[in-house]
Amino acid sequence: MTTPRYVFFKGEFVPYEEAKVSVVAHGLNYGTGCFEGIRGYWNAEEEELYILKMAPHFERIHQSARILYMDLQYSVEELTKIAIELVKRNEFKEDVYIRPLLFTGDEKIGVRLHGVSTEFTMFAVPMGNYIDTTGIKAGVSSWRRVDDNAVPARAKITGAYINSALAKTEAYHNGYDEAIFLNADGHVSEGSAANMFLVRNGQLVTPGVQHNILEGITRHTIMQIAKEELGINTEERSIDRTELYIADEMFFCGTGVQISPVISVDMRPVGTGQIGPVTKQIMEIYNRAVRGQHPRFQDWVTPVYKPQNVALGGTAGVTA
Ligand SMILES: Cc1ncc(COP(=O)(O)O)c(C=O)c1O
Repeated sequence: MTTPRYVFFKGEFVPYEEAKVSVVAHGLNYGTGCFEGIRGYWNAEEEELYILKMAPHFERIHQSARILYMDLQYSVEELTKIAIELVKRNEFKEDVYIRPLLFTGDEKIGVRLHGVSTEFTMFAVPMGNYIDTTGIKAGVSSWRRVDDNAVPARAKITGAYINSALAKTEAYHNGYDEAIFLNADGHVSEGSAANMFLVRNGQLVTPGVQHNILEGITRHTIMQIAKEELGINTEERSIDRTELYIADEMFFCGTGVQISPVISVDMRPVGTGQIGPVTKQIMEIYNRAVRGQHPRFQDWVTPVYKPQNVALGGTAGVTA
């Protein structure tokens, strides 16, 4: 990873080397924090960097903080300004990933969420593809998805990612590229760091929000593209494991993952074993929209260097 020049830390922009936390920091020891992942896309033709769906991400970190009784002292609008300034100060002219992080910063021993102070930081690093987007192999994990009544998946909680990491590494050891989580009741939930969609009989199907998923911003985006551009509706419902084996198409989606088509699941080809036509069309539209090249979805992106447009990525997007 290329390290950034500046990060936002303790209320100001400081050189990367100066942003340090103690080994005793509460959040480091107990995983008590929440975060976001936001992408910025470089448009070489326009010499512009577009940040995707900024406001929905900052609304979601506020929701995560609320679930964790944590105080995020910056409003959504202030956070968007910090993100823009951060990218500008680092003079990024390539695709980037922006990571806002709120964590319990006190140097205190004792697991709890009350009586500990929070710290907020934001950094950005250059980032290309997080996972292959030309067709991956997925496997159902032996690890179950964290339950809303145990570790709420709806909040993007730092400590919860041990669940994702266990599934991802198991998938890797089993020769897969990505894991598919089932819930404790055996229904499909999501990937290790991505939501998922099936195509069945020309319709999209995705697990509903009650299935211990992160309420993904890209998930909402996909549903909007499908409906408005392709006239395809999405059914949000329970998905059985064996439905994965008979789906016509399948893909993961997320800010990091973008759209990653699945061409085999548990050693069975998905559909023809090639990227399907619906997935292909959605990818094509998504890839244009994120770089500010789709007129209908222009308000999803915020330009950093020539801010004549003030779109902050829309407000809807956290809930479907
Ligand atoms: C567990 C999990 N599910 C889903 C997603 C996709 O969410 P989004 O599209 O908001 O990035 C992510 C990515 O951050 C994730 O970590």
